[in-house]
Amino acid sequence: MKSILRLLALMLVLSGAACSGGKKTSIVDENIEIAKRQIGDLMRASEQTGEVRIPSTYKNGEVDYVPTDDWVSGFFAGTLWYMYELTGDETWAEHARRHTENLDSIQYLQWHHDVGFMIYDSYGNGLRLTGEKAYEPVIVQTAKSLATRFREVPGVIQSWDADRGWQAERGWQCPVIIDNMMNLELLFKATELSGDSTYYNIAVRHADRTMQEHFREDASCYHVVDYDLTTGEVRRRCTAQGYADESAWARGQAWAVYGYTTCYRITGDRKYLDHALKVCDFVFNDPNLPEDGIPYWDFDAPNIPDEPRDASTAAVIASALYEIYTYTNDAAHKERADALVGSLSSPAYRAEPGTNGGFILMHSVGSLPHGSNIDVPLNYADYYFLEALIRKGRVEAGEPLF
Ligand code: GLY
Repeated sequence: MKSILRLLALMLVLSGAACSGGKKTSIVDENIEIAKRQIGDLMRASEQTGEVRIPSTYKNGEVDYVPTDDWVSGFFAGTLWYMYELTGDETWAEHARRHTENLDSIQYLQWHHDVGFMIYDSYGNGLRLTGEKAYEPVIVQTAKSLATRFREVPGVIQSWDADRGWQAERGWQCPVIIDNMMNLELLFKATELSGDSTYYNIAVRHADRTMQEHFREDASCYHVVDYDLTTGEVRRRCTAQGYADESAWARGQAWAVYGYTTCYRITGDRKYLDHALKVCDFVFNDPNLPEDGIPYWDFDAPNIPDEPRDASTAAVIASALYEIYTYTNDAAHKERADALVGSLSSPAYRAEPGTNGGFILMHSVGSLPHGSNIDVPLNYADYYFLEALIRKGRVEAGEPLF
């Protein structure tokens, strides 16, 4: 009996439908209603002081706000743009503009690589949705700043400075993290906007060297690869946010799937899509992937099943899978994406409206080894969740994603 009930629940999730008050509501519409309440609360709180503050997480009963140079600073502006896209309500666009333009100075930031996340999620979405011309030079200037981190000899963009913060204690020369794949979309866009192929070429060289050096036989990836700046050789393969050097940090796998899918979209080079598919196979065949599809924070965490899950990983992979489905037409990819959206929409991960500080999803992990943001909501989990919902809606309506 129990298994029949479970099957029925799963079928309901996979059909993407839920019943409310006798009316059939799609899982996308149901989430939009919840997002309006949650993100609305968060947005009002973030603007309450008269300044624009950037909500990143919620813990110990309080929303945490981050400065503009934090790597997560673009996600809330991006979330507001996605709310505009999902609802068509101009009010969201007004707030999205305010939060986007608050990041103006980031176009000149050169001390870390995350400006792709920061500026593309904010200005990039703003440009895509409104055609705002003033956003174009911001994207190009950001690419210029990011390009200062390109190291010709290894042929990669250096992610972190080796002499700054906790990274300085690791003895690295040119550390590159898999997350860096997510910064390439901005470089590609900058070439499209400026006509300067430098940015495109840097993105391709970074993607190629990363494909060569970051991945194991089973297609899982290392978090950090450190390069020798003189010889270009790999000095070390290790981790910063994962459980161990040889483990598979969950979000790293998600960044790889998403990043290589993006590279395929823009370059048309099939090797990138094939690579994303291989990493997907690793994720979905790993014996430690739980039945509901929401990974533990690291696939090799030592105390599975008593380890925190990472909803952000699931949201990133779900969004990428909808895109992958549009290239492969393989229903399995959409089914997996739908199942992830279904799990994330369940009470196990989606907060009751009016709770969770206004964030939509619960249960993500920032960096467990650093004791930072463990089993909390994170603004990027919500960002990629909303993106997955937009893509699901488009795919099902037979509309192009881009
Ligand atoms: N880019 C840092 C992280 O994924 O936590």
